Amino acid sequence: MQANSSNHHDPKIIVALDYADADSALELVSQLDPALCRLKVGKELFTAAGPQFVEKLASSNFGVFLDLKFHDIPNTVAKACSAASNLGVWMLNVHASGGIEMMQAAKQAVDRSAAKPLLIAVTVLTSMNQETLNQIGIHTDLPTHVLNLARLTQQAGLDGVVCSALEAQMLRSNLGREFCLVTPGIRPANASKDDQSRIVTPADALALGSSYLVIGRPITKAADPLAALEAISKECISA
Ligand code: C5P
Repeated sequence: MQANSSNHHDPKIIVALDYADADSALELVSQLDPALCRLKVGKELFTAAGPQFVEKLASSNFGVFLDLKFHDIPNTVAKACSAASNLGVWMLNVHASGGIEMMQAAKQAVDRSAAKPLLIAVTVLTSMNQETLNQIGIHTDLPTHVLNLARLTQQAGLDGVVCSALEAQMLRSNLGREFCLVTPGIRPANASKDDQSRIVTPADALALGSSYLVIGRPITKAADPLAALEAISKECISA
């Protein structure tokens, strides 16, 4: 686990590369500093640009979080995690609702790889609410369901979960200081909210127990992305 080392060697900011093609992503990446951030590649960019693109990014100085949220039978997820680990990524993820056997198989596959990336799980997608949870047959109240899945993730030996910064304090107090909490929905105090509604500033997110902050548009759409990254990074150091 690298979650508690200093900002410089273990940057807390993960820039979300929400782009439709490799060229647009690389244009942004060329302006960023790997000492200050890591990069997140999600389903859109991965599907458009492919594993070779991820391998190329991962072999640069940037750590890469491959955000593909695997969810399938244990054997298939284990093989996907093994393939993702072989790309040299720093972090990858699965859905906790795939169950403990699936997560354990994923963890074993990651641990067998040379790169041994951090493996985290998605608990409940933040696009879901109590009503949509009920519709799929889950009648536990949503925060309890999030905590139950995070506990299962920890039991399976994974490194942490993706969660809202607003859930970070509750998860941190229940799961201990080593558990990695990766939080999106972050906005610097003076930034546009875009389509995010429940937002937290970088300093507040870290104070609430976040380990890493996923930040997209406040950096990718800034007139000067490096200046925006540097400003948020300073805010993190002083938090
Ligand atoms: O541009 P913005 O900072 O809102 O981007 C945040 C990133 O985090 C995007 O890649 C988005 O898909 C992801 N994300 C999110 N909210 C969640 C889970 C993931 O914004 N609850």
